[in-house]
Amino acid sequence: MLSAREAVRTLPSYHPPLGGRDGLRLDFNENTVGCSPRVLQRLRQLDPEQLARYPEREPLESVVADFLGVSPSELLLANGVDEAIHLLCETYLEPGDEALIVVPTFSMYRIYAAATGAQVISVPAGKDFRFPVKDVLNRVTAWTRLIAVANPNNPTGTVAPQEELLRIARSAPAAAILVDEAYFEFYGQTLLPSWRQFPNLFVARTFSKAYGLAGLRIGVLLGDPEQIRSVRRVSSPYNVNAVALACLPEALADQAYVRHYVSEVCAGREQLERAYESAGVTFWPSQANFVLARIGSSAFIQHMRQRGILVRDRSSDYGCEGCVRITLGTQEHTDRLRAALQETFEELGLGQGASRT
Ligand SMILES: Cc1ncc(COP(=O)(O)O)c(C=O)c1O
Repeated sequence: MLSAREAVRTLPSYHPPLGGRDGLRLDFNENTVGCSPRVLQRLRQLDPEQLARYPEREPLESVVADFLGVSPSELLLANGVDEAIHLLCETYLEPGDEALIVVPTFSMYRIYAAATGAQVISVPAGKDFRFPVKDVLNRVTAWTRLIAVANPNNPTGTVAPQEELLRIARSAPAAAILVDEAYFEFYGQTLLPSWRQFPNLFVARTFSKAYGLAGLRIGVLLGDPEQIRSVRRVSSPYNVNAVALACLPEALADQAYVRHYVSEVCAGREQLERAYESAGVTFWPSQANFVLARIGSSAFIQHMRQRGILVRDRSSDYGCEGCVRITLGTQEHTDRLRAALQETFEELGLGQGASRT
């Protein structure tokens, strides 16, 4: 009888709770209003010829390289950062190798690494989810072939200091170091200029968050040209679809849209953190488009849903017992969120506990 590989048979299945998402979507760290109008206009102009042809990725790689100030040989467009992670795992991991992740973090690192048959080593974050650089360095062995760090991290919103990430890259030259900057626009700091010092360092960016294109599936993997050439060998030449490629130049050209959206998210983040603070709710100051707080999940989530607001239960993540993650969107959405929060806090009698960590 046909049987999947051992590493696949033992892989837990991952079903993000996408069903029945009616209401204000503050549960998946998406953009809450969608993309730039310029992208929508481009979508309306697509013709059958463009859909009939296999998509050509390379011309758009030059456009993105120009935008990021790198050479086209230093990047690969991917079907979201998800695919970039998958490709890195396929390129560098073999059964018996080790992949290091700091938990809690984005689920797909574990899934794609474990699917190769590699052993996933989870290094617990420090107090208040601080980046445990010493523990990571202590766990590097001759078998370590991948270290993946989301910066800012999901679901905590916390960040790792750049010099600590570079120290890891220096200390583990035989491992691919992925610094996943999916939330870069809400943080503003990047490892991009530094990565040329380290041929084992990769940086990933996505168009799913600030740009509002999660449904199109497009992201970028940046790294040393020789390493990118290897990753490219594993990738389908048609991994990014024609619709995403057609829209990408418009999305990049409308930086005013991105700036405006990011400024509303950052203002909302500040307001949400102040609301938690005055209610005495424990939360972790965030550099991303969401905030994690310890609110005691299920009743809170239920009450918010009754008010038409979807938030994400993270209580099963490592160290996140009773935690809920709420995504920020436009100012209008933050106003709705704050009104619903206030009612929910009153109904649940919340607000007597600790505050900012
Ligand atoms: C840290 C991190 N990386 C990557 C992704 C996925 O990005 P993409 O939509 O480009 O696959 C997410 C989405 O939640 C994320 O939190």
